[in-house]
Amino acid sequence: MRIGNLDLEGNTFLAPMAGITDFPFRKTVERFGVSALWTEMISSCAVVASARNLETLRLADHQRPTICQISGNDPTVMAKAAEKLQEMGAAGIDINMGCPARKVVHSGSGVALMRNEPLAGKIVGAVKKAITVPLTVKIRSGWDVHNQNAPDFAKMIESEGVDAIIIHSRIRSNRHSGPPSLGVIRRVKESVGVPVIGNGGISDVPEAQAMIRETGCDGIMIGRGSLGRPWFLKTVMASLGNKHGQSVTASSVLDIIVSHFELSQEMWGTQRAVRRMRKHLGWYSRGFENGADFRSRVFREETPNTIFQLLKTFFGKAAII
Ligand SMILES: Cc1cc2nc3c(=O)[nH]c(=O)nc-3n(C[C@H](O)[C@H](O)[C@H](O)COP(=O)(O)O)c2cc1C
Repeated sequence: MRIGNLDLEGNTFLAPMAGITDFPFRKTVERFGVSALWTEMISSCAVVASARNLETLRLADHQRPTICQISGNDPTVMAKAAEKLQEMGAAGIDINMGCPARKVVHSGSGVALMRNEPLAGKIVGAVKKAITVPLTVKIRSGWDVHNQNAPDFAKMIESEGVDAIIIHSRIRSNRHSGPPSLGVIRRVKESVGVPVIGNGGISDVPEAQAMIRETGCDGIMIGRGSLGRPWFLKTVMASLGNKHGQSVTASSVLDIIVSHFELSQEMWGTQRAVRRMRKHLGWYSRGFENGADFRSRVFREETPNTIFQLLKTFFGKAAII
């Protein structure tokens, strides 16, 4: 698949997820195979002011193209942020026009931009002018059931120069739950000429295949389906006939978790890593016998050595599923 001037191996992408898709998790997914990675949303004001430590993005340490997502509502600030991230090595810039969080929406950013087409168009136009790497926009079906304007909105941002559109096929009030609508993805695909990436609710291979088959979308983006099983995107890629360049060096779930944990420690320091890894350990242990008991013990632990010991006992030689 190609997005603007970016040639990609395959068409399966890791979704941005705030608080989850940090460098250690992205790297863990990348070890298996993925066409491109998205960073979680960063406020354009923070990028411009350097208020957030952008070093933690570690763009240079990825092998697969990594696209940086920004949020905001000021075309000039958004353009400056995009330019800065491009200089730092972003393979592309993605604009968040789908976030339903109250704080984001009240500031006129995220999915609120789908209700303000003139401003959304100006933002896309300004960012497009500021960068040479591809520009994507992640949208939703629309604001509510009465305002599902994704197809027309997609056409509008295409006319401002966007190189691909990601559509999370849920309205704002459904946030991240409820059945996604394949019909909306199909209508977006029919309304534009640029590539369309479908997103929402893919948790197994048949769902991934159905999204492509029933909507005609060019690629798929997976978020929660990757939690606790970072190899899931590679499985999907293989089922879609994509090559997946990376070789897997881990032979067991334990190897993967330990390496994820070590990356996290290196990045965040031990204390923060232990806290950040708790939610991942919860996901990794889902579906395992006595998982609840394991979680109640491991979540209390603060020392990596004890945690590693618990991991070893619990996961043993469990193979990747
Ligand atoms: C915890 C969490 C954080 C998220 N953060 C972002 C974000 O920063 N930017 C964004 O565009 N979408 C964000 N999303 C939405 C996902 O990218 C994706 O659109 C959504 O989860 C549906 O896909 P899925 O069903 O494959 O998870 C987030 C979702 C979750 C669950």
